[in-house]
Amino acid sequence: MSKTWLITGASRGLGLEMARAALAAGDNVVATARNVSSASRAFTQHTDRLLLTPLDVTDPAAPQAVVDAALARFGTIDVLVNNAGYGQLGLFEETPEDDIQRQLETNVNGLMRMTRAVLPALRRQRSGHIINISSIAGLVSFDFCTLYGTSKFAVEGFSVNLARDLAPFGIKVTVVEPGMFRTDFLDDRSVRFSGNPLEDYAQAREDAETLYKNFNHQQLGDPVKFGAAIVELANTAEPPLHLLLGSDALKMARDDLALRQAEIERWQHLSASTDHTD
Ligand SMILES: NC(=O)c1ccc[n+]([C@@H]2O[C@H](COP(=O)([O-])OP(=O)(O)OC[C@H]3O[C@@H](n4cnc5c(N)ncnc54)[C@H](OP(=O)(O)O)[C@@H]3O)[C@@H](O)[C@H]2O)c1
Repeated sequence: MSKTWLITGASRGLGLEMARAALAAGDNVVATARNVSSASRAFTQHTDRLLLTPLDVTDPAAPQAVVDAALARFGTIDVLVNNAGYGQLGLFEETPEDDIQRQLETNVNGLMRMTRAVLPALRRQRSGHIINISSIAGLVSFDFCTLYGTSKFAVEGFSVNLARDLAPFGIKVTVVEPGMFRTDFLDDRSVRFSGNPLEDYAQAREDAETLYKNFNHQQLGDPVKFGAAIVELANTAEPPLHLLLGSDALKMARDDLALRQAEIERWQHLSASTDHTD
């Protein structure tokens, strides 16, 4: 049976490829974008199964209007993909307060706001699948990634706890941890670097910006295959709580888990020393 998807940040990159893959699978798609007219040029095949609607996830009033439009057009929402986001890269100390708030407002509050707007419909249906696009940077630390990493660690924490709230209603949650995918993520159109230079960090900042810029549009991951994998995920009867995508993410997660396990064992004598003995 065909599904109805609601996807945020569907103008380009992973969001666009997920929308295209869901349409190709015969599903209905509510594709949201900040600029609908430029997004509509990205969808070459126009069909009545596609509803393109404006959404900036930082606008508190916008999600409800999108949900209302989706339900009016298709009657249900089966899959919510919280994808909209960007990377605030660079050093914490060099990042202005406004940029910190903007990162959390988009990647965390925007995602929660969208989820809150969709939940009444999913609860009424007693079904649905919320797919939150986190990152390998939500599991593992990277250089010059403190704020983006903070936002994605928050998406991880939100997702795994939300899954418990929603399990009694038959609503599934999956948090997806992509590695590096070839989108505009590291392009000037999307990424933001910290803007208050401090002399102590000058060399480190230059090295990091060069490293990230060299990866721009050279990443290992294929967004078209990402879209196909998410469609497969949405068609799985018992979807996982976490899904790594990309062999780079797989390796980094495994290496990090091994280090974490070794650290737990190394410090277990102290960890286990604080219980009452009565
Ligand atoms: N590519 C990667 O390597 C990678 C890895 C791990 C995780 N991710 C995550 O995957 C998601 C998609 O990123 P991408 O790689 O596809 O990057 P992208 O090509 O830069 O696309 C980002 C999308 O998010 C939208 N967006 C940004 N801020 C928004 C806002 N306030 N409201 C609504 N939409 C907004 C953009 O819309 P506009 O066109 O209007 O700017 C665009 O559609 C993000 O959450 C990102 O953190 C990406």
